[in-house]
Amino acid sequence: MSISIKSPDEIEKMRIAGKLTAEVLEMIADYVVPGITTDELNQICHDYIVDVQNAIPAPLNYRGFPKSICTSVNQQVCHGIPSDKKLKSGDIVNVDITVIKDGFHGDSSKMFAVGTISKFADRLIKVTREALFLGIDQVKPGATLGDIGHAIQQHAESNHYSVVEEYCGHGIGRKFHEDPQVLHYGKPNTGVALQAGMIFTIEPMLNIGKRHVKVLGDKWTVITKDRSLSAQWEHTILVTPTSYEILTLRKDEM
Ligand code: MF3
Ligand code: CO
Ligand code: CO
Repeated sequence: MSISIKSPDEIEKMRIAGKLTAEVLEMIADYVVPGITTDELNQICHDYIVDVQNAIPAPLNYRGFPKSICTSVNQQVCHGIPSDKKLKSGDIVNVDITVIKDGFHGDSSKMFAVGTISKFADRLIKVTREALFLGIDQVKPGATLGDIGHAIQQHAESNHYSVVEEYCGHGIGRKFHEDPQVLHYGKPNTGVALQAGMIFTIEPMLNIGKRHVKVLGDKWTVITKDRSLSAQWEHTILVTPTSYEILTLRKDEM
């Protein structure tokens, strides 16, 4: 495993890619309403990335993925393929955006509530976001990947949710997915030690039911085996000399 340490020049390019990624999630928020299809969300994001940002939507044709964004609804865990199915009030949907600008990737996702959602769904979304930020708060030189995974798993399980283990965060830069793998479970003080200049995503997926998942016949869409609701949030994180910088931070989070 070789984890790249980004140069100041590469970090600056990753800041730009991260900012564009955040701006797509800000832009799409107003469109996520009952009656819109995930295909329409895909088209709006695609056009914005290509025409406004002069950037590239990384998912399109990535290992055969057919669309420009991932949209994962309700029991879908991740990698949902946009379709002509309409969102309805009560749905929860993860929109996952990866933008390539000047050769570098930004990767971030967030949950949206469609119309009015249940207390159960709302609580899952909130706890999953808290888990992401508790993981992020571990990041500094000398901390370990196990510290991040442990913080996320601890928060999930103390709230009686399960953590999906088959998919993880990842190093990111010129490539979409680089070393290391960032697991969302683990033990403190284990695994790779972080160094300033590393850039990786943290993207926990939490389920209301059991952790087990399966991939649908479309070869992409991951769902919970027990069909329970699942939520995910993702940011791209730079390890700084003293702590971290969230490269995909949105205005609503500042
Ligand atoms: N954006 C996802 C991630 O966070 C990966 C999607 S792969 C795709 O790593 F092909 F489905 F786009
Ligand atoms: Co990612
Ligand atoms: Co992503």
